Amino acid sequence: MSDRTQKTAPVLALETSCDETAVAIYDGALRAHALHSQVALHAEYGGVVPELASRDHVRRVAPLLRQVLGEAGLNTQDLAGVAYTAGPGLIGALMVGGATAAGIALAHGLPLIPVHHMEAHLLAPMLEDRPPGFPFVALLVSGGHTLLVDVRGVGDYRLLGESLDDAVGEAFDKTAKLLGLPYPGGPELARLAESGREGRFRLPRPMTDRPGLDFSFSGLKTAVLTSLPKAASNEERADLARAFEEAVVDTLCIKCLRALEATGYERLVVSGGVSANLRLRAGLQGKARARGAEVFFPRQAFCTDNAAMVALVGWMRRAEGRRAATALEVRARWPLSELRPVDGIPESAEGAIT
Ligand code: KG4
Ligand code: ZN
Repeated sequence: MSDRTQKTAPVLALETSCDETAVAIYDGALRAHALHSQVALHAEYGGVVPELASRDHVRRVAPLLRQVLGEAGLNTQDLAGVAYTAGPGLIGALMVGGATAAGIALAHGLPLIPVHHMEAHLLAPMLEDRPPGFPFVALLVSGGHTLLVDVRGVGDYRLLGESLDDAVGEAFDKTAKLLGLPYPGGPELARLAESGREGRFRLPRPMTDRPGLDFSFSGLKTAVLTSLPKAASNEERADLARAFEEAVVDTLCIKCLRALEATGYERLVVSGGVSANLRLRAGLQGKARARGAEVFFPRQAFCTDNAAMVALVGWMRRAEGRRAATALEVRARWPLSELRPVDGIPESAEGAIT
């Protein structure tokens, strides 16, 4: 057993894949993290405007860097590496974090460590006091992805199922728009659904009536559209929001239980922006527990995009860092299955990895 108080190799990480600028430092424990959300900037357009996102990352990244280094009591020369989200994401936005990270790395002769955004989401629960042991089934539910993954170790991922059309977060956002809610739709819809009455609308649980672990959410959005004329009042719109949320939660629960059944695993990790949803957290917890399985979530703040999860993965993958001036690489698309396993489980990660 390693000495948990002995921390090593601080890794600085930058996250700029979409509409959050975030910086963190991890050295076996989370030293500091800070974030600026661009929600207000994009709100008037009803969604993320990529060019505005890139420009705002440029404005925000240096002050956040200064803040995080200050809070950790470190200088750039104390660092063991600089990690950055290399994809998937908006290419211009990714370039801002990547180029900034590359600049710091080059100036101080540090290794530059590319991090896969979805791997960062997947491992985010390892930042918590009670980290999941391997193997586990991971449900990754974000704005761009809905994935069920068989996770046997860090970097050892097999895709079990995915959405054939809209990602869950995307379905939340589009449905919220139909209901007349502002961006970002997911949390707004969840808030509206709180006052919704049960059973006023009945929506389908897509693809649960046939075997398999893939998802489809675009039909659910269409079902909401079809029901809209029956939801004229605010009260009825809340009922419809609740019916949508319940349909999504039920569908995800059914597929997660199926994935646990198929793998024989007893641990389920749920991560990505939509894992902040309280009805989803409660639903999965209840269903998994009834089956004798344990569920692991990141804390609420680390469900959505943040740099703490990027720093964690950057620290775990620090041996893969490169010092070459040409090391910078970003990718709009990047399948999780292309990642390579990390040799040996990093022993001094926060909490014990069992
Ligand atoms: O992981 P994330 O921050 O960014 C991506 O990598 O995509 O996920 C953002 C997504 C958005 O679609 C947002 O509406 C959704 O997560 N989301 C939620 C909630 N909080 C964020 N969806 C439902 N309920 C929430 N409480
Ligand atoms: Zn994300």
